[in-house]
Amino acid sequence: MYSEKVMDHFTNPRNVGEIENASGIGTVGNAKCGDIMRIYLDIDENGIIKDCKFKTFGCGAAVATSSMATELVKGKTIEEALKVTNKAVMEALDGLPPVKVHCSLLAEEAIHAALWDYAEKNGIKIEGLKKPKSDIHEGEEEENY
Ligand code: FES
Repeated sequence: MYSEKVMDHFTNPRNVGEIENASGIGTVGNAKCGDIMRIYLDIDENGIIKDCKFKTFGCGAAVATSSMATELVKGKTIEEALKVTNKAVMEALDGLPPVKVHCSLLAEEAIHAALWDYAEKNGIKIEGLKKPKSDIHEGEEEENY
């Protein structure tokens, strides 16, 4: 049911963890299943994403898509990172079963939420970035889930 790449990223996820003093943190919940993902971005003064880590309380497909998404945004500019959509992540993983497509939205939304957090902290506007719908703020998880 899953591609080899999905299985690889699920059993051996890349970039799991936290970044201390991250430039931006995004936490999102999946409305469909209640799973949660948090992405940490380390962005340098030139707007390059130096590092990216994630934590997911979610299913295997969510773990695999987050892992791949972190790999895809590392070393990229903010503008390039915005193009890392759930479709791009799924393509990079050689596809997901249709019932698992919604899981891949978590990574895209979490990256957007982390970029939004970075922009707010720095008082800048990122062209083409919309305020994330499902951003959950630190400490509010229990109320929401
Ligand atoms: Fe919840 Fe996949 S079932 S993210």
